[in-house]
Amino acid sequence: MRTPLVAGNWKMYKGPTEARRLALEVRNGRLGSRDGTEVVLIPPFVSLAAVEEILRGSDLRLGAQNVFWERQGAWTGEVAPDMLRDAGCSFVLIGHSERRTHFGETDVTVARRLRAALDAGLHAIVCIGETLSEREAGSTESVTATQLQGGVGALASSDWSRVTLAYEPVWAIGTGRNATPAQAQEVHAHVRAWIAAHAGATIAREVRILYGGSVKPDNAAQLMEQPDLDGALVGGASLESDAFLRIVTAARPRA
Ligand code: PGA
Repeated sequence: MRTPLVAGNWKMYKGPTEARRLALEVRNGRLGSRDGTEVVLIPPFVSLAAVEEILRGSDLRLGAQNVFWERQGAWTGEVAPDMLRDAGCSFVLIGHSERRTHFGETDVTVARRLRAALDAGLHAIVCIGETLSEREAGSTESVTATQLQGGVGALASSDWSRVTLAYEPVWAIGTGRNATPAQAQEVHAHVRAWIAAHAGATIAREVRILYGGSVKPDNAAQLMEQPDLDGALVGGASLESDAFLRIVTAARPRA
């Protein structure tokens, strides 16, 4: 049984003051819920402490949007994995398409960040996904396979229990144009088959694959009905507690 996971990627929104308010609304909205869905809030670095304080004692988890691979040193502007642990994070996003597009992230740097995050005891959400031109050229499968090979191809079997994948078609992120449930399922099944071939059937059966890209309350249920979708990575709709909580409610455990 795969536990569904819904993560709110707040991107570069919500400084500490607003982050505290949003986290409190989400926490209050989740009080007493027993649906078994794992919920992760991923605010900007400067708001981690504020959100950690609100989430403390709840079953909501805290995540960061990126991590560097060195443990410490003269790396101005970077944040190390142990620092995230110390700040109360149990999750970290790695390889989001905005990092790939705007900040030079590659499969090589994804793999380095992932190794360091896992070594520090963090759980990683590794993002993959094709651009519109790649989809139109019919190369979705080869692009995602290359990203998987470069990003998670070197993992040991024991690493996988702390890895979640997120399939986020770049053309669906922040555009209001989500993949159809069938389009998402097709890629998720391909990703799971890739994992089965490279890491074995047991890991493939257990690993969670989230969908991300314009997930909203009105499309979440249909998306999450798909057998290989284990939850969502939510951007825009995670900035509003009602919308986010409705998406959380749409998640269901997977057999
Ligand atoms: P979106 O973002 O929900 O605003 O499309 C998703 C993401 O980038 O993780």
